[in-house]
Amino acid sequence: MNPSLLTRGPYDGDPYAQIISALREHGYIRLNNVFTLEQLQRLFLFIKQSGQADFHQAGVGRDQIHQVNNFIRRDHICWLDEQHDEADFYLEWMEELRLRLNRELFLGLFDYECHYAHYPKGAFYKKHLDAFQGSSNRRLTTILYLNPGWQTGDGGELLLYAADNQTLLETVQPTFGSMVIFLSEEFPHEVLPVNTSRYSLTGWFRINTSTGIHLDPPA
Ligand code: OGA
Ligand code: MN
Repeated sequence: MNPSLLTRGPYDGDPYAQIISALREHGYIRLNNVFTLEQLQRLFLFIKQSGQADFHQAGVGRDQIHQVNNFIRRDHICWLDEQHDEADFYLEWMEELRLRLNRELFLGLFDYECHYAHYPKGAFYKKHLDAFQGSSNRRLTTILYLNPGWQTGDGGELLLYAADNQTLLETVQPTFGSMVIFLSEEFPHEVLPVNTSRYSLTGWFRINTSTGIHLDPPA
């Protein structure tokens, strides 16, 4: 399965089977049209209706050394840990994926944490890994982009690199409904500076090694 292969339409075929096959072969996949326009609009509406107060500037590092660092990342995030009815269908879809991944790839994924992210104009996220081998419980990263009308020139591309930290594997435009899933410990990635507000829903499947405290990606 080509990791850049796009699914044809909402729930056309079995997206889970495509994901599992691509993860097995390549460790990552790009998808499109996993969710319906109506579903995507529900998520986008939440973002549009939520005030600045729901989002806080994301930090780097964990626990006591967690801190905001403007040179590494400038996005604002909102964890889905309270009532988020708008995302019910999304979390159910992720739960089904978790079960399938455990059944077919034996990943032993224990839970899923996720947050909305807002990159205001000028924001970026320098090249990083979401998890360092052996020192994090994050195993798999998912990113769903929520930008209707996104155009080339708006910036904010996700660049996904091979484990050598140099070879560029994919340049992903954060268009409405496109999604990327990759092994958190293996793919360095960065977000290029955005020229307009950029929104996404980013999450991590985790194995059960530590406390339930939310961690922004380690520095
Ligand atoms: C992250 C991240 C990438 C993106 O939140 O860790 O790398 O495209 N996001 O939003
Ligand atoms: Mn990341």
